[in-house]
Amino acid sequence: MKFEPPHDLRGRTLLVGICGGIAAYKCAGVVSALRQAGADVHVIMTDAAQRFVTPLTFQALSNNPVHTDMFGEGTAWEIAHIGLVRKTDALVVLGATANTLAKLAYGIADNLLTTCVLATRKPVLVAAAMNTQMLDASATQENLRTLQERGVLFVEPGSGFLACGETGEGRLANEHDILSAIELVVRRAHELEGERVLITSGPTREFIDPSRFLSNPSSGLMGLALATEARGRGAQVTVVSGPTSLRAPADVTVVSVTTAREMHAAVMEHLPGTALFIGAAAVADFRPAEYSDTKIKKSGAGRTLVLEPNPDIIADVSAHRPPGCFVAGFAAETDEIERRAREKLTAKRLDCVVVNRIDIGGGAFGARDNEVTILWGSDGREAVTRAPKSVVAAALLDRIQQLRRHA
Ligand code: CTP
Repeated sequence: MKFEPPHDLRGRTLLVGICGGIAAYKCAGVVSALRQAGADVHVIMTDAAQRFVTPLTFQALSNNPVHTDMFGEGTAWEIAHIGLVRKTDALVVLGATANTLAKLAYGIADNLLTTCVLATRKPVLVAAAMNTQMLDASATQENLRTLQERGVLFVEPGSGFLACGETGEGRLANEHDILSAIELVVRRAHELEGERVLITSGPTREFIDPSRFLSNPSSGLMGLALATEARGRGAQVTVVSGPTSLRAPADVTVVSVTTAREMHAAVMEHLPGTALFIGAAAVADFRPAEYSDTKIKKSGAGRTLVLEPNPDIIADVSAHRPPGCFVAGFAAETDEIERRAREKLTAKRLDCVVVNRIDIGGGAFGARDNEVTILWGSDGREAVTRAPKSVVAAALLDRIQQLRRHA
């Protein structure tokens, strides 16, 4: 028999939503295991869930009242909204059905569970359970992806015999995997508490005249994913961002800049007290030596653009870093990617560098997914497989935290 270490959730408060599927009976076992691990568990059941298992079962297993009704008399609504969402460490949706996932993806809040998920800024972990075909349906897959991109964490559904008689993916993940994922989520949620994280993000623009500039296709998505993840882990996050159409998450301070020199100045201003700096911006290395106040007219003849170098922001951060500050950079390369990235790691005295390949036409820029390799020290290396940038951001912060702990 495989040895599985006991789970420890002592001192943790969890809000656990139970959805309406046959897996609801298995969720009872999960709730019992959570309580045995020491967690204070508060259960919300959807109407459909109550058709499979009674609230009494969950009340007995959690030793707390079960919340079912958003508009009921008395305490449920108030407790769930005002009290529980605030004091919970994480929200766990167990046996999430295709229907609940769709509601969560679209921000529909028509029952107590979906309302609480919408109302929380705490980590949300989902263990889905449904028939294989419903799981495979493109609508469900898109909803899963949307939620994942927003930072919702998923415990992979298991595969095996399903209640509908089919065999395939869609079973509720096993209890051990669910508890391990919850432990990870609550540990992460506090790990950057009290620390300041400074991130550069997006492109910069270097204007030639009022209507033209030099730039690159960076969307700022990777920087924002990192900001979201760092905030989710309790950090106080400032993003110095070049022009982007994306909206930063609540609680993240955004300093908007246009040029590399503005980005440099803003970074230097916010650097004091920073524990972790991440240079995710695609900074323009050069700017036009001359700027024309009026639109340059075409003359028929060719034109030479003279460029001068911009400051290297991350190199300056590295040289003037506050004591103990960890500096992580990115390297976007088209060829010999790891060798060139290692050169940047050394030249800029970075603690780690995240390298990704730029495909022809700027491939990695602006994409929803990313595939990176993290390099550190003389031969440290971790490959992060292609995944939504939110997932890559979590992997990067996991590695950064590990490197910081062993620094
Ligand atoms: N960077 C920076 N300031 C610059 C240029 C780059 O802070 N003026 C940072 C980027 O945010 C990234 C790292 O340096 O973290 C590497 O950026 P990259 O564009 O890959 O490399 P460069 O240093 O610009 O070198 P090259 O363009 O020659 O590859």
